[in-house]
Amino acid sequence: MSGKEERSAKTIRVHIEKLSEEPYAAILCYPRASYLELRSRIAELREHGVNEVEFAGSTVISNVPVLGKGFVGVVIAAYLNGQKVALKIRRVDADRASLQQEAELLAKANAVQVGPRLIGVSRNFLLMQYIEGKALFEWLATHREKTLVSEVLTDILEQCWRLDRIGLDHGELSNAPKHLLIDTEAKPWIVDFETASLSRRPANVTSVCQFLFTSHSAVARAVAEVLGERNREAIIDALRLYKNERTRENFSRVIQACLA
Ligand SMILES: Nc1ncnc2c1ncn2[C@@H]1O[C@H](COP(=O)(O)OP(=O)(O)O)[C@@H](O)[C@H]1O
Ligand SMILES: [Mg+2]
Repeated sequence: MSGKEERSAKTIRVHIEKLSEEPYAAILCYPRASYLELRSRIAELREHGVNEVEFAGSTVISNVPVLGKGFVGVVIAAYLNGQKVALKIRRVDADRASLQQEAELLAKANAVQVGPRLIGVSRNFLLMQYIEGKALFEWLATHREKTLVSEVLTDILEQCWRLDRIGLDHGELSNAPKHLLIDTEAKPWIVDFETASLSRRPANVTSVCQFLFTSHSAVARAVAEVLGERNREAIIDALRLYKNERTRENFSRVIQACLA
C-alpha cells in the first residue's frame, strides 16, 4: 500500500482564513494553489457560512488527512453554524467548470431518499450531510453477521432500484469500493453523483449486483465469505430479466437470487 492509504490519526481544525497557508492551500486549490484563486475560494466559502474546516480521514494530501480524493474533488469536513458537514472542493484541474450539475443530480437522488442530503452548492464547493462511517469493504472486515450484512446489501439494492425508477444512473456502481459508505448505525449511503446522468439508461441495480455478487472484486469475495457462495447463473439470469423489463417483480427476483 502506498503512503496515501495510511491512516492518519490526527484531526486538525482550521479557520478558513488559515487556508491560504500551506499545507492547507494545496488542498483548497488542489493540486496547485495560486494567490488569486485562494482568495476567491476563501470568500466563496465564507458566503456559505463556513468559517472552520476539519482535516481528518484515511487519505493524505501533503501530509494532511482528508476524507477522500477523486478526479473532481477533495472531500473534507467543515462546520456550518456548529454543525459538521461534508465539503467537496472542486479540484483546480477538474474537467468540470462547476459542481452545480452534481448538486442537481444529488438533489434528484435525495428526492428518493438516496445520497447525503444536499446542503449548498457554488462553483467550487458542494456542502452535504456528513456521513460518519466506513467504505463497505472496510466495514465488512469488522461486520461478519449474516443477517446484518444481508440487510445492508438489501438496502443498497433498494436504493439502486429507486434510482433506476427515476432514471438517474449513478455511473460508478460497477466498481464502487469508494462510493458505498456504511455509517455507524449500519445504514448504507451511495455517494458521488459526479458522473451521474439522467440521459443514460439507468443500470444501478445491475451494476451494483455485479460488483457485490458476481465480480471478482475484493468486496464480492468478502460478501461471499459472509453470505456463502451465490448461484452466479441464477443472479445473471435474474439480472437479464430485470434489464429487459425493470418491474418490481423482476427486481424481487434479483433480490431473491442475490440475497435469499
Ligand atoms: N458526504 C460524505 N461524507 C463523508 N465522506 C464522504 C462524503 N462524500 C464523499 N466522501 C468521501 O470522499 C471520497 C471522495 O468523494 P467523491 O464524491 O467520490 O469525489 P470525486 O467526485 O472527486 O470522486 C468518497 O469516496 C468518500 O470516501
Ligand atoms: Mg468518486
